[in-house]
Amino acid sequence: MVRIAPSLLAADFARLGEEVRAVAEAGADWLHLDIMDGHFVPNISFGPGLVRALRRHASIPFDVHLMIAPVDPYLEAFAAAGANLISLHPEAGPHLHRSLQTIKALGCQAGVVLNPATPIAALDHVLELCDLILVMSVNPGFGGQSFLTSQLDKIATLRRRIDASGRAIALQVDGGVTVATAPRCIAAGADVLVAGTAVFGQPDYQAAIAALRRVG
Ligand code: DX5
Ligand code: ZN
Repeated sequence: MVRIAPSLLAADFARLGEEVRAVAEAGADWLHLDIMDGHFVPNISFGPGLVRALRRHASIPFDVHLMIAPVDPYLEAFAAAGANLISLHPEAGPHLHRSLQTIKALGCQAGVVLNPATPIAALDHVLELCDLILVMSVNPGFGGQSFLTSQLDKIATLRRRIDASGRAIALQVDGGVTVATAPRCIAAGADVLVAGTAVFGQPDYQAAIAALRRVG
C-alpha cells in the first residue's frame, strides 16, 4: 500500500488551516511539512509555531522534513509542536546517531534524508534507529523541480537493504513526484510519495491523491 504525503510547501500560504483540512479529507495519509532555514537550503519556509497552529486542523501524521542546520537545537520544538515523524539530513549536524536518538527520546519516529549526491553509506551505522529513509529526487529547497531519474537506482538498492534488514522502515521519495514519475518510484520500491505541486497545484485534491496512489 503506497502512502501519499502532500507537501504543504505548494499550498496557499494565506489559507493554510483550510488547506490542511482539505488535503486530509481528500485522503492524504500524512502531511509533509518542509522546514527551510535559508542557510542549509536556499529558501525559507516556516517554523515550529506554524506546525503547532496547524496541528488542530487534521489528525493525520505530521511528517516534518527538516532542512535546517544546525538541526539539534530545534528537535524538541518540532516534537512539542506535534510532529509525529521528524527527518533530518546527515549533513545538518555533527552527530547523526545522537540526533536520531534524540528524536526517538522525544517520542517521535525518526527519518534520515539522502540528498541526490549523498551516498547510501551515510546510513550504514544508523539503520537500527531509522523508521523512515527519504530519498530526495531533487536538490532540496524548492517545490516544482524536475525529478532526477538518477535516484531510482538508489531507491531500488534501499528497498533491497530494508527488506534484508527485516525492519519496517518506510521508504519515501520527495521531489518532482507526479503521475508520470510516481509509477517509477513505486516500481523501484518506494512506499511513501511526497508530492507538492502534484497535489496542491491541482484543482481536485482527491483525484490528484488517487492518481498518485495508483500503480501505473
Ligand atoms: C523540496 C521539498 C519537497 C517539495 C516537493 O526541498 O523537500 O517536499 O515541497 O515539491 P514538488 O512535489 O513540487 O517537487
Ligand atoms: Zn520535503
